[in-house]
Amino acid sequence: MHSFNELTTIFSERFNTTHFPEHPSTLYEPCNYFLSLGGKRIRPVLCLMANELFGDIHEDAFNAAIAIELFHNFSLIHDDIMDAASLRRSMQTIHTKYNQNTAILSGDVMLIRSYDYINKITAKYLPKVLHLFNKTAREVCEGQQLDMDFEQKNNVLLDEYIHMISLKTSVLIAASLEIGATIGGAGEANCNHIYEFGRNLGIAFQIQDDYLDAFGNADKVGKNIGGDIKQNKKTFLMLHALATANKQQLAIMQDLMLNNPPDKVAKMLAIYKDCNVDDWAIALKEKYLQIALQHLEDMALLSTRKKPLKDLAAFLIERDY
Ligand code: IPE
Ligand code: IPE
Ligand code: MG
Ligand code: MG
Ligand code: MG
Repeated sequence: MHSFNELTTIFSERFNTTHFPEHPSTLYEPCNYFLSLGGKRIRPVLCLMANELFGDIHEDAFNAAIAIELFHNFSLIHDDIMDAASLRRSMQTIHTKYNQNTAILSGDVMLIRSYDYINKITAKYLPKVLHLFNKTAREVCEGQQLDMDFEQKNNVLLDEYIHMISLKTSVLIAASLEIGATIGGAGEANCNHIYEFGRNLGIAFQIQDDYLDAFGNADKVGKNIGGDIKQNKKTFLMLHALATANKQQLAIMQDLMLNNPPDKVAKMLAIYKDCNVDDWAIALKEKYLQIALQHLEDMALLSTRKKPLKDLAAFLIERDY
């Protein structure tokens, strides 16, 4: 069994090669550029960890892990267009460095390339993996659309936010785990538990992502801090502030969202702090982490085998990048 760091290295040795032809370089150079920026590689590592719950890592798990990381990067390239984000992993996003059309197309070709790796999976597992991969991809699109719809909506409920982040973020984390477990030969009950472990962990992961977008250290996070506030994203921070702010603060928030003044982020952050969003973030992450861990607990496996996943879960909700 391997730790997160060991699996990151093992995965990177396979992943850090070119996945694209040379020409036209105007299409493939941006793809290579984006992949060279790295990232935490948590989804492929989760796939390998879930596979290792059941024995040695299978070759198919590597192909699935590569497909998943390519899909994730495709989703980020398009997400950065939708979110008007100029920075990713401390470097320029594709639509900023090149242009929007190139970002659309290099995202498309990266998504298509991911299916070449899915297609390498042994016939025995391919139908189930492909079905889950496609279902997940559709759900990510649904979540991304809801995320944008909510920018225009001022009465989003906490449950609606959880549903939206579950779609845009958690299902890919959940599917990464279930695909790894499936290739390891897991039965239906264990597949369901590992999926629910991932789905709930993914919710806590996105809560931390939203927290870091507001309060993180720009150098560590590598994204534009305050981006969600600028875009009127209905994160749990915003929902909590809208629910607990006094009349005067509410009026300020409405004005900030409507008129986008230059000091929008600073003023919104001050209100978030007044509304004690920190405590709320900790409580919300803890709630979903505990549900996740219960599903891991319920898997009929030796607890020593589960340790890398438990350690990674703890890291993911406390991370500062
Ligand atoms: C960013 O995911 C997108 C979200 C779903 C929040 P990561 O934080 O895993 O991004 P990288 O790959 O490590 O850069
Ligand atoms: C992104 O959510 C989810 C997907 C890419 C599907 P965010 O928009 O919060 O991710 P970051 O913060 O840009 O990484
Ligand atoms: Mg974004
Ligand atoms: Mg987004
Ligand atoms: Mg974010």
